[in-house]
Amino acid sequence: MTRDKVLAILKQNNDYVSGEKISAGLGVSRMAVSQAVKSLRNDGYNIISVTNKGYLLQENPQIDKLTIGELMTYLPEERIEQILCLDTIDSTNTKLRELAFDNAPTGYVVIANQQTNGRGRRGRSFVSPKDTGIYMSILLRPDCLPHECPTITAWTAVSVCNAIEKVTGISPSIKWVNDLLINNKKICGILSELSVESEGGHVQHIIVGIGINTNEESEDFPDEIKNIATSIYAETGKKTTRAQLAAEIINELDAMMKDWPHERDRYLKQYRKLNITTGKDIKVISGNSGKNAKALEINKDFSLKVMYEDGTIADISSGEVSTKLST
Ligand code: BTN
Repeated sequence: MTRDKVLAILKQNNDYVSGEKISAGLGVSRMAVSQAVKSLRNDGYNIISVTNKGYLLQENPQIDKLTIGELMTYLPEERIEQILCLDTIDSTNTKLRELAFDNAPTGYVVIANQQTNGRGRRGRSFVSPKDTGIYMSILLRPDCLPHECPTITAWTAVSVCNAIEKVTGISPSIKWVNDLLINNKKICGILSELSVESEGGHVQHIIVGIGINTNEESEDFPDEIKNIATSIYAETGKKTTRAQLAAEIINELDAMMKDWPHERDRYLKQYRKLNITTGKDIKVISGNSGKNAKALEINKDFSLKVMYEDGTIADISSGEVSTKLST
């Protein structure tokens, strides 16, 4: 933690900061500060030290680490205490599930630089290469029934779009129900997992997992998904500071939980505006089969109104659709 705090102090100062000031501010020894600096240098941070002046961190846009120290630049300390940031994990959703049953509080976040078993919807895997994407899960304990949960996932899609737009200037679109696309290719997937009380049928918690392809090159994607997946970098040519984007997503999700459920109309309006599914010929996928339909509109509960080829109209509230232009 000292290392993270030293990094945060150096990032917040454009001038030299003395070792004495850092150690007094953090309540740690000068030796601990100098060890923290050494460890940061080992990780590639260029920290200059000058006798009688102290330490200065040289800006290096090449460095894009997702650590507590980096997140501290963007979030207050009380929020940081509710975040677990890992280098590698099988899946942030799986890790957070364990913590949820261990009484982690609502809003708790697990974030990782790499997932070895990233999970997607319908049993698929989510490719999660090291140090280029954002893989994060947030624990929510809303007072609601299971059928209301797809709405939270849709609200999350809106919140993540807002965060991406604020940080990168580009606004993704939403393919029903919760895939985020840029130029019709997927840059973000959301996987929500529920735990329901067996007696009252009430929701105990929801784990909302968000995976964002951020700084990958197009060649980084496996052949099977190259045509349908992309990254923010591959589409814009600009690298994103992952800690900044992760922090902005956390801010948006915190605001979202305060808005839930009374601000439904605002989220619905934005969701409808960002959605690119309505008006398209789609396939409604269920199990291994798909039925052709036309996507008509997003209903008030975020379900999708469709018309099948035989003229039957139906509202679908979970599952998946594919469009001609994307999966
Ligand atoms: C999908 O598009 O099918 C959903 C993908 C969700 C991926 C995220 S990455 C963080 C969290 N941990 C997981 O194992 N999955 C979700």
